[in-house]
Amino acid sequence: MKRQTNSAASSALPGLDSKLPDVGTTIFTQMSALAQTHNALNLSQGFPDFEAPSALIERVTMHMEAGLNQYPPMLGVAALREAIAAKVANLYDRRCDPDTEVTVTAGATEALFCAIAATVRAGDEVIVFDPAYDSYDPVIRLQGGQAIHIPLAAPDYCIDWQRVRDAITPRTRMIIVNTPHNPTGSVLAQEDLENLQELAVRHGLYVLGDEVYEHIIFDGARHESLCRYPDLFARSFVVSSFGKTYHVTGWKVGYCVAPTALTTEFRRIHQFVTFTVSTPVQYALADFMNASPEFHCELGAFYQRKRDLFCHLLEDSKFTLVPSQGTYFQLLNYSALSDFNDTDLAINWTKKHGIASIPVSVFYQNPDPDAPQVLRFCFAKDDGTLQQAAEILCGL
Ligand SMILES: Cc1ncc(COP(=O)(O)O)c(C=O)c1O
Repeated sequence: MKRQTNSAASSALPGLDSKLPDVGTTIFTQMSALAQTHNALNLSQGFPDFEAPSALIERVTMHMEAGLNQYPPMLGVAALREAIAAKVANLYDRRCDPDTEVTVTAGATEALFCAIAATVRAGDEVIVFDPAYDSYDPVIRLQGGQAIHIPLAAPDYCIDWQRVRDAITPRTRMIIVNTPHNPTGSVLAQEDLENLQELAVRHGLYVLGDEVYEHIIFDGARHESLCRYPDLFARSFVVSSFGKTYHVTGWKVGYCVAPTALTTEFRRIHQFVTFTVSTPVQYALADFMNASPEFHCELGAFYQRKRDLFCHLLEDSKFTLVPSQGTYFQLLNYSALSDFNDTDLAINWTKKHGIASIPVSVFYQNPDPDAPQVLRFCFAKDDGTLQQAAEILCGL
């Protein structure tokens, strides 16, 4: 398995076999550390190099000073759950009960963990699409389940639904989808969601929708949230992250929306994983969502301008690029520039040319011979950083 580039050897502790013997430090940590060591521009890990809205930060300070510093409720503060439910109703026409269907979590990462842990049992199979976000597979395995990896079809990284139908067995418990998609920037269309709904209902499957980039979608496309499809939502956990939406990835606050029966099981796990999440931050997020709904509504346009700038600056480079449809990642195809594998190239360019990116092959279980030679660059950066990055990339 090729998931991490820095696989640790199996456990060195006598009598204690590692549960994840092939898992080492994530590629994000490795590339960010390498970027720091070599003083390289870091377009590898997905975080903005600009500030969060000052009004949001002021609200955190205000709530701290007002004494909101003790444990909040396990499910999240009511004001934030209500703001989430209102947003989901406005954007996706799905009415959900903030008390029984919305849970605030320590980032989307915790929500993904709890949803998988609540659903997957030993011997279950879970369908994931490669390149896949790196937490899904280990969390499935920790439950004794097995991830069934289906590659997204090149060159557009779309789902081949016939392959999905062929992969379903009596042991299939869940399908995990991620739209807009990290690392490729592809988005699912209405037809994909209809296929997903049909299969989930027919085979009695649960679905986990990783929608952390729900607001970062371009060119007038509509985000096809699982929440929009009633029969699909009835079997789904829908996960999002405030880190991506409000430029605060370090706050690690996210949420899960799911029907009551699924939420009940989800919370059984959540209460023993983190129990709850920072009180003043939750109140501040609730205030900001209510006071500034335009912020998330305009986020797509904000990042589309950055994507267009980055792509425009690279017009004279030797890379081939298909503009990203969503997320803040852009894939660059380097086949005209090098025969190196993507991991070696990403390391080499960080050390030699001072620009860090993420190799996409590490998001595959098995190297896909048909997969294009691409590196992932994060364009959630100041225009000046994008300009500097493009200068380096155009010189290669
Ligand atoms: C697809 C995807 N899912 C989940 C996460 C985790 O989000 P959080 O930082 O809120 O835990 C990320 C973060 O990069 C992501 O890209």
